[in-house]
Amino acid sequence: MDYEPPFLQTYMSLLQGTNDLISDLSDVEKREIPLIDLKRLKLDQLEREECMKEITEAARKWGFFQVVNHGVSQEVLKNMQFEEKEVFRTPFGIKSQENFLNLPSRTYRWGNASAINPKQLMWSEALHIFLPDIEKMDQHKSLRSSIESFVKVVTPLAENLVQILAQELNINFSYFQQNCSANTSYLRLNRYPPCPFPSKVIGLLPHADTSFITIVHQDHIGGLQLMKDGKWISVKPNSEALIVNVGDLFQALSNGLYTSVGHRVVAAEKVERFSLAYFYGPSIDAVIESYATPPLYRKFTFGEYKEQTMKDLKEGGDKVGISRFLL
Ligand code: OGA
Ligand code: NI
Repeated sequence: MDYEPPFLQTYMSLLQGTNDLISDLSDVEKREIPLIDLKRLKLDQLEREECMKEITEAARKWGFFQVVNHGVSQEVLKNMQFEEKEVFRTPFGIKSQENFLNLPSRTYRWGNASAINPKQLMWSEALHIFLPDIEKMDQHKSLRSSIESFVKVVTPLAENLVQILAQELNINFSYFQQNCSANTSYLRLNRYPPCPFPSKVIGLLPHADTSFITIVHQDHIGGLQLMKDGKWISVKPNSEALIVNVGDLFQALSNGLYTSVGHRVVAAEKVERFSLAYFYGPSIDAVIESYATPPLYRKFTFGEYKEQTMKDLKEGGDKVGISRFLL
């Protein structure tokens, strides 16, 4: 039984006769994004302060950076990747069932169910796992235990980075402690199958993340690109590093100081690619308010943000995001 989602059958008629739909594929720059060694946070005060400065500067100027010596062991990452491959190898007929993994509906996504034109098609499948739900995965014990081991180490990493970013703004970390917990974050497992026409269909459409911050682990294939000064830049795979990016909620909270940058994934023609994203976010009733005056964004709850992005996605095929809350 085949585990590939039926992309070809579903997209063929939509794509026939179209030119290359992704116009800026050849216009991608190879530039290194900031690489920060977190070991320095544990050294003397001067090193620590310099490292913190690198983090806040990268969040301001790039919205994206990579970290090494981040405390998530290669073993934990390898286990996650192994389990991720296994779970995506489940036959499509099973993955796409309502109660797959005993998790709520809409955990599994393939392509873009909200696409309203061919440019919005996507060549990827994903599992969105809300962390409090993993206890329901009693039939998939090894996937569950790999996730638990990963979350146990990635959560303190996220908290540490968020605390550094907050400190720069004089925002008390208690704000995050009150609104975010291991139970308000979620994971997205992404698989990008080989795509026979990578210049027509994107792996993952350009988007900005909703979270405060996101931590991503990508395999060795490459394809992740981010927007910098009006150009796409590809993030070269680095097996030692984790990728960190600022999400919409931190952009609003920081009054635009930290930037939630658009990114996308280009599919590869011959090989499959896997990635794993951990989204550090708040509970639904959390209030997001720009820390500085005059505020650029109106005050909103995370629930309002979600409602707005869901509405936009339904109506226009795109979630729009934080610009909706600009004053
Ligand atoms: C995401 C994302 C990047 C990747 O899941 O939001 O941007 O490399 N993933 O798959
Ligand atoms: Ni993303």
